[in-house]
Amino acid sequence: MADDTEDGLLGEKQVMKPPKEPPWWHILVFPVWSIFMALYAAVPGGTWTWFSWHPFCMVFAFVSCTFFAVLLKKRGGYANTKVHGYVMAVALTSAAFGYYVIYSNKNILGKIHLTSWHSWIGLFALLSYLSLFLVGLLGLHPDVGLRNKSQDLRAFHKWAARLAIVASWGTSSLAFYGMHASAFDRLAFFLPLLAATAYIL
Ligand code: HEM
Repeated sequence: MADDTEDGLLGEKQVMKPPKEPPWWHILVFPVWSIFMALYAAVPGGTWTWFSWHPFCMVFAFVSCTFFAVLLKKRGGYANTKVHGYVMAVALTSAAFGYYVIYSNKNILGKIHLTSWHSWIGLFALLSYLSLFLVGLLGLHPDVGLRNKSQDLRAFHKWAARLAIVASWGTSSLAFYGMHASAFDRLAFFLPLLAATAYIL
């Protein structure tokens, strides 16, 4: 059985406190809010167009699903770990569709691909998510993962994911900043993301 005591400064035994689990309302409140954020980002001119699917699916994938899946994983346990993986599968599907939309939209408009910081960082985030998903599925899945006891692989997954999350939220903010001139709009998008970053990373 695991020992839940440790030596104090004077050599006496102290009981270690278990890590705090994020409560359910924390896990749900930000994803729900971020769906409104995704809708707002999707209709900069007030009307829904083919382009609108790009910001909507990207924010849904990289912000709503990611926040929910990361906090779920922080709660820990067998079932939560599996649902974490399923939610990230939904995120990846949504992000892939979001990429298809912007790629095809640029083709329709006759524009050149991958010419901005937003697009380069975005592609990096997208490929990182794909790799992290494969590492999670093949390596860390509690039933079929080939190295699911490896602490090194877990640490790699966690730190690489943090980098991918920062990249994706950064590039979303960059795009939003470019499309919304009002300081209020920009802060309404950026500040909650900053708070959420501090919360989950
Ligand atoms: C993490 C989220 C996002 C990712 C991974 C992402 C990824 C990308 C990529 C890879 C491209 C380049 C496509 C190409 O050149 O073929 C692109 C273009 C674009 N995205 Fe995003 N995007 C994200 C969020 C957003 C958001 C939230 C908005 C709007 C508020 C947005 C607006 C645009 C626009 C206007 C373009 C075309 C101009 C350009 O290539 O820079 N994106 N995005």
